[in-house]
Amino acid sequence: MNPEVAVTLVSKKSMCLLTPLKHQRIALHRLSSSSVSQDEKSYYITTPIFYVNASPHIGHLYSAVIADCLHRYKLLQGFKSKFATGTDEHGLKIQQAAEAAGKDPLVFCTDVSERFKHLFSCCNISHTDFIRTTEQRHREAVEHLWSVLWNNGFIYKGSYEGWYSTPDESFLTASQVGDALDPSGKEIKVSLESGHKVEWMKEENYMFRLSAFRSELLDWLSANPLAVQPERFYQDVLQWLQEDLPDLSVSRQKSRLQWGIPVPGDPEQTIYVWLDALVNYLTVAGYPDEHSQWWNVAHHIIGKDILKFHAIYWPAFLLGAGLPLPQTIHVHSHWTVGGKKMSKSLGNVVDPLERSQMFTTDGMRYFLLRQGVPDSDCDYTDAKVMKLLNAELADSLGGLLNRCTAPALNPAQIYPHFCSQSFPSEQSSGQSRAVAEDYHMLEAVKNLPAVVEQHYDTLHVYKALEAIGACVRQTNGFIQRHKPWKLDRSDCKDQRWLDTIIHVSLECLRVYGTLLQPVVPEISNKLLSRLGVRPGERSWAALMFLPKHQGVNCPFEGRALGSNSGVLFSRLEKNHTGSQHKYKT
Ligand code: MSP
Repeated sequence: MNPEVAVTLVSKKSMCLLTPLKHQRIALHRLSSSSVSQDEKSYYITTPIFYVNASPHIGHLYSAVIADCLHRYKLLQGFKSKFATGTDEHGLKIQQAAEAAGKDPLVFCTDVSERFKHLFSCCNISHTDFIRTTEQRHREAVEHLWSVLWNNGFIYKGSYEGWYSTPDESFLTASQVGDALDPSGKEIKVSLESGHKVEWMKEENYMFRLSAFRSELLDWLSANPLAVQPERFYQDVLQWLQEDLPDLSVSRQKSRLQWGIPVPGDPEQTIYVWLDALVNYLTVAGYPDEHSQWWNVAHHIIGKDILKFHAIYWPAFLLGAGLPLPQTIHVHSHWTVGGKKMSKSLGNVVDPLERSQMFTTDGMRYFLLRQGVPDSDCDYTDAKVMKLLNAELADSLGGLLNRCTAPALNPAQIYPHFCSQSFPSEQSSGQSRAVAEDYHMLEAVKNLPAVVEQHYDTLHVYKALEAIGACVRQTNGFIQRHKPWKLDRSDCKDQRWLDTIIHVSLECLRVYGTLLQPVVPEISNKLLSRLGVRPGERSWAALMFLPKHQGVNCPFEGRALGSNSGVLFSRLEKNHTGSQHKYKT
């Protein structure tokens, strides 16, 4: 046991229950894996619930946009998908923030929670549930889980002595703590990971028997190598499990922490905020009532700073309660500004609402997902946003749509006919006008859905967008190569070839528009509507590219294009007004 965390057992009520429970848990595991096929078409995705002690920043929006992208993607694939987000409202730091603001804690929480809701609705975050930990349904779920853990013998009353960081709401071991000076030059102890001040805490409270779960957690990870992604975070979890795994304090004395859920049967103690917060995922799934439809297919999106809570504490609580473990924990890295963590004191917090008004909602979504890499931190600048959006959305994708729908090239404003002689399915001489690069492009676009699918599934959205961008460039190259504007429309062969060039380009655009829906829903809708693709024709299943090359009738051929609702994405321009950079579309 860690010498810094001295635990005195007061109640030894149930240590002997371990063996039968282990069997029960393994049985439950089997049950959950056999029920996978029954739940095959259900999907449950969650974001972390956000602390309400500060306003949202782009890092928060990033977590939400990733989850939203996966949710929309699963819906397009025909899954029934549940998408939960919400706010984490209990705990000492919220209590202190409300006090500092001179507000009643619930009023304070409601204000900030509404700000998150507003941001999400402005950014097209299509959550199906928004949970607040101050809701009654959540309190019931937490109380129930606590009672199950208690009855199963995994919670006991003890005394905790060790380091605690209020800003992180986290207990730390000696090796996680270092020396630092506060602004007045006083020596203090800080968390080595977050840099936040820590305090020595000694009090009687309830302990969770975390140490009992090490081998089961290791078994889970070795049987599920994709449980924590990307790989480097999986390795971090394995590494932590090699270190000391002391029992975890799961309550605080009410005298110190009032703003939380009281321990069932002991109103003098308040449940630890992380145990309270993690249960939100179960609450939304329906727990303690029927919850297996969703809980068996749960996937979490989290930032790297909260990995230990999700990949060690949370699975241990679930194992203790005999519940199945999440399918995947997708971890993402952080956004920095000027190479530094965003913080109010540094004055480098980027407001996501303001930026989505500046760059449009889809612009911001696209930027975050195109530039954000799960494995490593990424630095945010407005200039990067502008450059990327202008190049990829305005010029490349928007330019392609413009070319194919411009009245000069497409006076009839239809999805023109495809001519197999001009562009046979196999490269040949004869009347074919297509060249080798055109066949390479077709091959790339045909394979694109599978490539994108693989990247969406592993949350490498930036790679999916990179692959789509490369295909868009190829299609622009195809048009540039054949210069349809130079063809002689009075010659019927030239006219057929022109129609074919436009048909193929529109087919490419239809694939790009369909695949981009999870990332930029508004732009995709505009694009697909302009092509005349109906809402029922936008799913993954409807993605057959260039059916005419597969001997299948093309339902779009000859169909009128949708109305022109303006450019797909207007170029952003930089306006220097004093020292402020403003962007306008
Ligand atoms: N309330 C806890 C989570 C409880 S989940 C049961 C919490 N809240 S938070 O508001 O601090 O963070 C919410 C999410 O935002 C976390 O996934 C965190 O990693 C993410 N981000 C916070 N800052 C970030 C960046 N600068 N960049 C990217 N994501 C960031 O932790």
